[in-house]
Amino acid sequence: MTSVTQTLIDRASAYIGGDVTWVLPEAEASLRNIPKLNALHPFRPAFLALQNMKVAVNPEWPAHTGSTVALNLPRQAEWAFGLLAQALEKMPAGGHLLMIAPNDLGGKRYAKVLDENFDVVFAESKNHCRIAVITRPAVLPDIVQKWKDGARALLVTAADLLSLPGTFSHGRVDTGSALLLEHLPALTGTVADFGGGWGLLAQQALTTASRVDLFEADYNAIQLAKRNLGEKNIQYFWHDILTEKIAGKYDAVIMNPPFHDLADANPEIGRGFIENAATALKTGGQLWMVANTHLPYEEILKSQFKSVTNVVRAKGFKVLSAVK
Ligand SMILES: C[S@@+](CC[C@H](N)C(=O)[O-])C[C@H]1O[C@@H](n2cnc3c(N)ncnc32)[C@H](O)[C@@H]1O
Repeated sequence: MTSVTQTLIDRASAYIGGDVTWVLPEAEASLRNIPKLNALHPFRPAFLALQNMKVAVNPEWPAHTGSTVALNLPRQAEWAFGLLAQALEKMPAGGHLLMIAPNDLGGKRYAKVLDENFDVVFAESKNHCRIAVITRPAVLPDIVQKWKDGARALLVTAADLLSLPGTFSHGRVDTGSALLLEHLPALTGTVADFGGGWGLLAQQALTTASRVDLFEADYNAIQLAKRNLGEKNIQYFWHDILTEKIAGKYDAVIMNPPFHDLADANPEIGRGFIENAATALKTGGQLWMVANTHLPYEEILKSQFKSVTNVVRAKGFKVLSAVK
């Protein structure tokens, strides 16, 4: 199947020229044919894939924005509109902004909103995606400020922590994570938080542990976790749990592992988290995790740990603990 990035290259190549900034591209070989390309990707596995292809890539907006900006817009709307606002503010007037998104993951809506607020110079529906190209006007319409406001960090009052559109569980505490927190014992020694997000689980672990190491693939979530939890007794690692080695050995690992690969449920990711948790724990160390009740993690836990306990099942989730 043709990727979203390849679809945009194939259909709108006439507009891709000069200095190009590409937001959230997939690691597509033909990106190498764009001579002056800078990519932006905050998700570590995607960032690493682009870097391995020798594409210049940053986890945050590059210092120099090209006169052409291409965006693979994400499904999360506030994040998508925030990216559009950033692109429009940073690029020069007269430059081309290209956007693509799958029809059922926001594409129809994003194309419509662009059409309502800008002069669209090219529009197409292809490979179940919407494509739109606009010329950056000299004066931006008022809606751009609204998009910026909508993409700001949001206080999760129940936890007194900031979250951000585009990061996991923005604006609320996830039900599974809340269940884990309810049953988490007072952990001592060093604790690793796998997929720590904006710091919800680490916040509680920090009240009893001597140190917490927070590992997270989403660069934006890491930045927010730093704002939320500061630097005392905590270290942050922008890290892909599935492919990158962890140097330390821990007394405990806590996690609410991801189980989605873009739109599809994929328990392999959780299994990978469990295997790497086993490797990162000292003998006698504890794993505390939460998962949707239907996810089949017990077998892999039993194969990697001395003992496994089903702590609780409630609200569609289960809390599991295991000793190395
Ligand atoms: C279900 S969320 C849990 C977030 C947080 N611990 C909480 O309970 O609110 C899973 C987190 O894992 C992160 N993640 C996904 N894939 C990852 C990977 N390969 N390596 C590290 N973190 C990853 C996601 O960005 C997300 O923040």
